[in-house]
Amino acid sequence: MKTIIKGGTIVNEGKQFVGDIVIENEIIESIGSLTSGFTGDEAVVDATGCYILPGVIDDHVHFREPGLTEKADMESESRAAAAGGVTCFFDMPNTVPQTTNVEALEEKFRLAATKSHVNYSFFFGATNSNTDLFTQLDEHSIPGIKLFMGSSTGNMLVDRDETLDRIFSEARLPIMAHCEDTGIINRNMAEFKERYGDDPPVSAHPLIRSLEACLASTTKAIELAVRHQARLHIAHITTAEELKLITASNFVRDGKFPLVTAEATVGHLFFSMTDYEKLGAKIKVNPAIKDILDREALRSGLMDGRISVIGTDHAPHLLSQKEGGASRATSGMPMIQFSLVTMLELVDEGVLTLEQLVELMAHNPARLFEVRQRGFIRPGYQADLVIVRPDSPWTVTPQYIESKCGWSPMEGHTYQWKVQHTFCNGHHIYNDGVVDTDYIGQPIQFR
Ligand code: DOR
Ligand code: ZN
Repeated sequence: MKTIIKGGTIVNEGKQFVGDIVIENEIIESIGSLTSGFTGDEAVVDATGCYILPGVIDDHVHFREPGLTEKADMESESRAAAAGGVTCFFDMPNTVPQTTNVEALEEKFRLAATKSHVNYSFFFGATNSNTDLFTQLDEHSIPGIKLFMGSSTGNMLVDRDETLDRIFSEARLPIMAHCEDTGIINRNMAEFKERYGDDPPVSAHPLIRSLEACLASTTKAIELAVRHQARLHIAHITTAEELKLITASNFVRDGKFPLVTAEATVGHLFFSMTDYEKLGAKIKVNPAIKDILDREALRSGLMDGRISVIGTDHAPHLLSQKEGGASRATSGMPMIQFSLVTMLELVDEGVLTLEQLVELMAHNPARLFEVRQRGFIRPGYQADLVIVRPDSPWTVTPQYIESKCGWSPMEGHTYQWKVQHTFCNGHHIYNDGVVDTDYIGQPIQFR
């Protein structure tokens, strides 16, 4: 079975050019300008006026399965991914049970094999007592080890210095760290509760989960990575001050990343503190969305390469669980369905180029975690592709939302870009508003 995507502008590996892509079964067969060689049996997708990008690889999602499926599950969230042009996701271990032993990890792969509409893999979660399991992890089937150096949803805090030393010295896989100092946060929370009562307003969230808390923990993580020469990927970096610690350009050189890389999330790149007024706890996440100057610094980090990857930290909760203030409301928001179109908006604003967007959302996550045969539009690679159309205004309303929680911080927002088609392993998984829910993605291979 062949599919021909005709006449779109292909954006790949630093270049843009108008061309056609031939897909044979799962694989990109050729890229170029086709004038002949058709049998007439091919499926043809007209991409005139559109851009063709490698499918987005989201290195940071919380799909909540198993155990928290009232919020979300692999079926619903992978459906949202497909509708958003995301063809690969790496899911986080703060599920129930936590993904902190090999059995729990295998169970997630079993679930995904019957439920996920796009390609999948899962981080292994570090705890204060499971480093002895690191040797049992298959480096070809998972991206890395997730480490909560700050407490957040799911009680996975690793706070013992000797354990942190052991994790950084024994991990053979990249460590993706959530960096916030829980001691500082708890002190701040106690102060705010004294002033405001049990549930301080959500506008206090960035002052409680403060710059100091982020900076202390990120500094410590980098120090550990350097001391043990371990690969560290700092999740959801949020402040200008932390970014100053990422001195080297993270753009890959000679196929190698520096020891320490950073991810920024769509939420932290799009929103700032002023948005709490309108959106309240809907945009309460850990680490907190901070000052507009922090957002500007993150945006400039996209340009100069200090940020390597844009992820979502897609973390759905029920709207009822988002009620209350800085203490009571849960942290996290859904974003995967709108991550690509939101970042395309930053392209329109001149914050980054289309080529840089493709680096940050597909090439770099593939390089950094050594994903096999994905993340680039190359002959012989898996045909994971997204076709986006510019100048097609549409407004987010609940009817569009695929995530199980049924709400989005983007409701009411008008986008100019639209995801038109998504291909996953050559399969036309999303076609102008319709996800093929019969399709199941593949486990991602690494290294
Ligand atoms: O805001 C957050 N939500 N930050 C995290 O670290 C976890 C996530 C979640 O799982 O809800
Ligand atoms: Zn997260």
